[in-house]
Amino acid sequence: MRTQVAIIGAGPAGLMLAHLLQRAGVESVVLEIRSRAYVESRVRAGVLEQGTVDLLNDTGLGDRMRREGLVHEGIELGFEGKRHRIDLKALTGHAVTVYAQHELLKDLIEARLRVGGEIIFEATDVSIHGIDGNSPSVTFSKNGVAQELHCDYIAGCDGFHGICRTSIPDGALTAFERVYPFAWLGILADAAPSQGELVYMNHDRGFALFSMRSPTVTRLYLQCDPADDITNWTDERIWDELLLRFRCDNGWKPNMGPITQKSITPMRSLVTEPMQYGKLFLAGDAVHIVPPTGAKGMNLAIADARVLAQGLVDKFQTGSTGLLDRYSEICLRRIWRVQRFSWWMTSMLHRFPDASPFDRRRQMAELEYLAGSEAAARSLAENYVGLPLELL
Ligand code: FAD
Ligand code: PHB
Repeated sequence: MRTQVAIIGAGPAGLMLAHLLQRAGVESVVLEIRSRAYVESRVRAGVLEQGTVDLLNDTGLGDRMRREGLVHEGIELGFEGKRHRIDLKALTGHAVTVYAQHELLKDLIEARLRVGGEIIFEATDVSIHGIDGNSPSVTFSKNGVAQELHCDYIAGCDGFHGICRTSIPDGALTAFERVYPFAWLGILADAAPSQGELVYMNHDRGFALFSMRSPTVTRLYLQCDPADDITNWTDERIWDELLLRFRCDNGWKPNMGPITQKSITPMRSLVTEPMQYGKLFLAGDAVHIVPPTGAKGMNLAIADARVLAQGLVDKFQTGSTGLLDRYSEICLRRIWRVQRFSWWMTSMLHRFPDASPFDRRRQMAELEYLAGSEAAARSLAENYVGLPLELL
């Protein structure tokens, strides 16, 4: 089997890359370890930046998102029993759209299959070869049959636990990492969202986030211990803790309903540099992770795919690798700005187990500054709706 670009991973990065390449006439094959049903139901991110929304609309993927996505023109920050609204639209002219990651993946998969593009689901034993030479390839098994895919380039879009990053020889990459002393316990509940905008809550007992997926489904998160086990959290305990953390002067609280999904996700920040080794290009969570407090991971994965597609298309159309050679440099500039924002939001909103009374007072001062200063609020808002994308 042969293709121009072998893409490992059918997440937002891999599927968006395949979509953009296909539109420019570049062939690719996507290899995914999981089944289609699994990929289309895995609960992950929910907030699309304006730039991501524009890209979906401009490339023919926006129909269902425009119908079902929820446009949010503001977010709320809560602390000391009070809530303060950040008016994203008034401060930046832009909004964000709440649309579940797995719904976006359904749209990407449907669009790819419609034009005859290939996605090999349930590909096992995926392994990459020859990335430092001129004839890279990928081996894998499908239904127990070993196969080989020859290609010009490999795109490693296989997420944090994938095999691409770890296939690069030791010493070729530098990792910059921070592991946080907390995790998020996330739930989906069959309950109508009790208000239209997200609430990021700093509480003495820890962070909590109110979000949503649709007019009938609420998404909620609680800061918890990273070593905690989901079996320690009965539905009753989860609701008690949520109601406590969201308690505020105006009496608002999330609506309760049957919990249909719950899981715990540890928090980390990671960047590995550079994002390329020979014929292998890494994109998305395969090469960087942000804590979800800034709602950036999926958007960053899609931004990488966009820059990589541009470089690959240029190479196949003109024969020049000039743009492709700058892929890592271009992406990393934006990635580090997004890392800064995600770290800052995380630091401001969570309870750190080793925080001193000084740290706690400083957190409150930071939140009060945001609540009282238009300049401070605008800085948050312009990062939240998404920094401009610098293309190659
Ligand atoms: P992934 O989505 O991880 O996709 C990688 C794919 O590769 C997967 O389908 C995987 O099965 C496949 N794969 C793995 N190994 C192999 C292999 N060996 N062979 C073949 N395939 C393989 N981001 C936001 O922007 N906004 C948010 O609101 C937000 N909220 C989040 C909330 C939570 C609780 C979590 C956990 C994440 C959140 N994120 C958010 C982050 C976002 O979900 C990720 O950043 C995003 O999924 C990254 O996309 P990706 O394509 O790089 O990787
Ligand atoms: C979500 O709805 O899943 C979500 C929203 C905002 C975040 C993180 C996750 O910052």
